[in-house]
Amino acid sequence: MKVGIFISGTGTNMVAVCRNFLDRKLDGVEEISFVLSDKRSAPGLEKAEAMGIKTIVLLKRKEQTREDYEAELLKAIEPYDVGLLVLAGFMKVLGNRFLEGFCGRIINIHPSLLPSFKGVNAQSQAFEYGVKVSGCTVHFVDSTLDGGPIILQQPVFRKNDDTDDTFRARILEQEHILLSKAVSIVCKGDYKICGRYVVLNQEEL
Ligand code: GAR
Repeated sequence: MKVGIFISGTGTNMVAVCRNFLDRKLDGVEEISFVLSDKRSAPGLEKAEAMGIKTIVLLKRKEQTREDYEAELLKAIEPYDVGLLVLAGFMKVLGNRFLEGFCGRIINIHPSLLPSFKGVNAQSQAFEYGVKVSGCTVHFVDSTLDGGPIILQQPVFRKNDDTDDTFRARILEQEHILLSKAVSIVCKGDYKICGRYVVLNQEEL
């Protein structure tokens, strides 16, 4: 399956997926067709270029409505004919216009154990709440915020001497592993969805 990746920033999750693909460790992925950013200054863009991956920058103009921006997004990626879109630190919420075009074919990585700590800065939300365990989640994207069916989750335990930064870094390390696993599962079609539950053909325990 051909895969496109959306980013907004550093792009370490995107790099992890691309690295695994280039090292032939991502079963089911035929090509990483592009990395698209909604920010020109996203450091991930240079990293993608250095790996030889096609990059696209598409900024939302001030006067543009979300619907118009999303129509432009769809048009920009249409020629690549990707089967899966991966949101890897893409910080825009996609609306119905976009989701209809990619129904059931978008996944997102989120740095908490959903449904806890939705939205931005989930790691700090969890840290400040004082949780013993947080982690990361890869889920299908639907029209609700961080709310689509969960594909994979990985817990990360907080240590007594963790700071917000060290906790965040250990979660990110697990994100890199989890996202690649999820991309491969979805591309191979190694799952089925029963209601909200994603049944994996090979149970991840
Ligand atoms: C990651 O921690 C990702 O889970 C988070 O943004 C970071 C991007 O880092 N995404 C969200 O919070 C989405 N709600 P990266 O650019 O280095 O991959």
